[in-house]
Amino acid sequence: MARRNKLLKFSELLTFPNVYENYEVTNALLVASQDDQVEMANKWKKEHFKNDNPITLELACGRGEYSLALAERYPERNFIGVDAKGARIWKGAQIATAKGLDNVAFLRTRIEFCHLFFGKNEIDEIWITFPDPFLKKGKYNRRLTSPNYLECYRKFLKKDGLVHLKTDSDVMYNHTNTVIEKFKLKTNLDTYDVYGDNPMVHPDLDVKTYYENANISNADSIKYLQFTL
Ligand SMILES: C[S@@+](CC[C@H](N)C(=O)[O-])C[C@H]1O[C@@H](n2cnc3c(N)ncnc32)[C@H](O)[C@@H]1O
Repeated sequence: MARRNKLLKFSELLTFPNVYENYEVTNALLVASQDDQVEMANKWKKEHFKNDNPITLELACGRGEYSLALAERYPERNFIGVDAKGARIWKGAQIATAKGLDNVAFLRTRIEFCHLFFGKNEIDEIWITFPDPFLKKGKYNRRLTSPNYLECYRKFLKKDGLVHLKTDSDVMYNHTNTVIEKFKLKTNLDTYDVYGDNPMVHPDLDVKTYYENANISNADSIKYLQFTL
């Protein structure tokens, strides 16, 4: 994307009423539309969604295809897409606004800081959609299902809250299974070939993300794990 176009999107991002950003991770303040500084931990339902419905996070949401699709399917639930990339979130926020999807919001931050922005038990479910597998040696701690990340999710995910991982990466799938086994977590669903199963093991696996559609990695199959912490 041209740099000018990207800068334009960054400046527009906070004109959306459904976008929050964090610039300064030493405190829990988020910048919201109109440049207001707000503390949102434990307040998302009351202050943003204005309802008491459960909240699902989509981590590494990119353009937020899962948040948008599930928000349409489940109007009685709330969804928050989280990603570090502003231009991608811009796209999701624009679609949510155009479609009048009041049950979707976006948070631009690094996922490792999420415990600052969500309170204990505030989140009901997590989807992790096509996270980067970080293949280089010594980088496995950056995988979004590494123990350090799971420890972070534990701070705001309800007890027995589901974690869904959808990935095209064998490395990410195997790594996650190893972590699940090592820390004696509970797997509810596990498939190595989402579209090879008939019927699919979960009804929402038919949603295709931008990355999945582009088939950048040329993967043979899409994998899915559902587990609790
Ligand atoms: C391969 S893309 C997938 C995006 C989207 N889920 C899709 O399937 O089209 C991975 C995304 O994870 C985001 N990401 C990776 N590590 C992150 C982190 N620690 N904090 C925030 N975002 C992160 C990247 O910015 C990128 O948008």
